[in-house]
Amino acid sequence: MTETTPPAEEQSALTRRELLNYAWLASLGVLLVNVGGIGFLFSMPRFKQGEFGGAFSLGRASNLPPVDAPPANNPKGKFWLTRTDQGLVALYKVCTHLGCLYAWRDQEGKFICPCHGSQFEYDGTYIRGPAPRSLDRFVIQVLGPDGQVLAETDPETGAPLPTPDDADAIVQVDTGRKILGKRRG
Ligand code: FES
Repeated sequence: MTETTPPAEEQSALTRRELLNYAWLASLGVLLVNVGGIGFLFSMPRFKQGEFGGAFSLGRASNLPPVDAPPANNPKGKFWLTRTDQGLVALYKVCTHLGCLYAWRDQEGKFICPCHGSQFEYDGTYIRGPAPRSLDRFVIQVLGPDGQVLAETDPETGAPLPTPDDADAIVQVDTGRKILGKRRG
């Protein structure tokens, strides 16, 4: 039997099919690389440590301010840290009325907003004024030695987070997780 050589037309058809296959595979590869790259970007933390929207370390639990100390102002993190015998609270510095920056008044022993006079207790609870709710809070986390989260503020209630017993535990405020204050009654 003699082998027959495919006609030139058939040969070029085969080549075209191969070319199409290669082109298709190449496009698939490019698509996968793009999807992988986008996934990688989304898996990266959006904010750096110490940048508003990210986490702010308060250091070791042993360095926390004592119970009922004047609120600690954190301008970069835009929060006030207060500590009652119930635990720690990080209050977002923006008034829940129209967004002015309220401040702690030592003499009155409360937070007062300079714009329309809303007042809030040491833990951010609404007292009086046009603000529709208590002050908003950020989630506070207690971290273990490997950076694992051992405890954090309940994101539903925003209740004060008990101070950790372990004096070496690291405490941080996550300014990317805001909890709306309770609406006034
Ligand atoms: S913005 Fe604070 S009371 Fe109006």
